[in-house]
Amino acid sequence: MIADEIRRLAAEQGAVILAHNYERPEVQDVADFLGDSLELAIRAKETTADVIIFCGVDFMAETAKILNPGRKVILPVQDATCPLAEALTPEMVREARACHPGAAVVLYVNSTAECKAEADITCTSANAVAVVRSLAEDVVLFGPDANLAHFVQQHLPEKQIIPLPPEGHCPLHVRFSLSDVEAGHARGDTVVCHPECNPDVQAASDLVASTGGMVREAPHHAAWTVLTEEAMTYRLSCLYPEAAFHPVEGAECEDMKKIRLEDVLHALRTGEYEVQVETAIAARARHAIERMIALPR
Ligand code: 13P
Repeated sequence: MIADEIRRLAAEQGAVILAHNYERPEVQDVADFLGDSLELAIRAKETTADVIIFCGVDFMAETAKILNPGRKVILPVQDATCPLAEALTPEMVREARACHPGAAVVLYVNSTAECKAEADITCTSANAVAVVRSLAEDVVLFGPDANLAHFVQQHLPEKQIIPLPPEGHCPLHVRFSLSDVEAGHARGDTVVCHPECNPDVQAASDLVASTGGMVREAPHHAAWTVLTEEAMTYRLSCLYPEAAFHPVEGAECEDMKKIRLEDVLHALRTGEYEVQVETAIAARARHAIERMIALPR
């Protein structure tokens, strides 16, 4: 079986397989470690494996490489990217800084390595509020997700959060609507949404949480409607088989679906496709990522 061959080759090569909670179920099943983007960054920093097979999208694999310049990091497909990350350029960050001298720059990990190199600190959806709260600056340029910026602003009214760009968003998460929340409530479910969802959906949901937050909260209710990538419900159902988790039909991130088991096997057989980040960019981006990881959890 292909999964057995993957596990055999990973053991032979001293490779660790990390996978995001949105990966295909069969890819989740062969992973050594599953997690949200913060948990994966921490695991990538802590691993002693020679090779990291990263099943996720490019910015996540880049983060793993930045934290492990001496290790081989492999993304099994070449075109698994994130349209949200592509909404921001380093020039936009530099221009915004020039317009707001004294403001801190906080970038969501869903950004390119070149943008992270311009940031003071990174954050994920799991720790965005804690990261911004930890800063001395009252004005924060926050990008590239405007809905996550809104979420942080709601929690920290004492700060001024300026979204950068003003309208950056995840094409999947902005598709969820109030009618999805209403359908969940009509079923008697607790409704949880990701903070990349629109403000009206956040306000109407019972809980707003990162995918890691969903894992932690799931045991508290018996039935959930989950407003994020549908593979999250596979992850939750494996952890809590006695509870019911309802996705919204068709809620698929096509980039997160690109890695198939065959690609993981190919990666182990050939070493393709190795992630590279330019040394000077990586050094500056590492500072911003490690500052985030060093915060108390
Ligand atoms: P998490 O921080 O919950 O892993 O979310 C990552 C992501 O890319 C959401 O679209």
